[in-house]
Amino acid sequence: MAAVTAQPVLLAATPAAWVEEALRRWPELLTDHANCEKKAASTALALMFAYPEDRPLALALARLAREELRHFEQVQKVMNALGVPFTRQRPGRYAHGLRGALGSADPGRKLDLLLAAALIEARSAERFALLAPRLPEPLAGLYGELGRSEARHY
Ligand SMILES: [Fe+2]
Ligand SMILES: [Fe+2]
Repeated sequence: MAAVTAQPVLLAATPAAWVEEALRRWPELLTDHANCEKKAASTALALMFAYPEDRPLALALARLAREELRHFEQVQKVMNALGVPFTRQRPGRYAHGLRGALGSADPGRKLDLLLAAALIEARSAERFALLAPRLPEPLAGLYGELGRSEARHY
């Protein structure tokens, strides 16, 4: 699957060292991933509340939030199957850093929020496509499937 080249919005590719580290620390990867799926659903809901007058957007985001919550459930299921315990994580700097670049008011902020979310989805799709072929089952199947979803979201 040539998913890496399918995300032309990303100006830099994920470094090979990141992939190796993520493969080595796969339980931590899953924990972080579950958190990210939860955040994706929560971001979709926050956008629905921020722009309630945009009904087509609200419907698309409602579908997205449900799908991201299903992803969360899928990751949890794999974590349970593989015996990965829940651990609290520190907030990441990535999304916070992206948010710092957004306009603070509309017009403009709505588009910025959607673009930032698209970048996050594109990065996820790129990384899942890099990880899937290197992982054993059931992780390979999980990352293969979710990578295709995130590519569509982006
Ligand atoms: Fe997702
Ligand atoms: Fe997504």
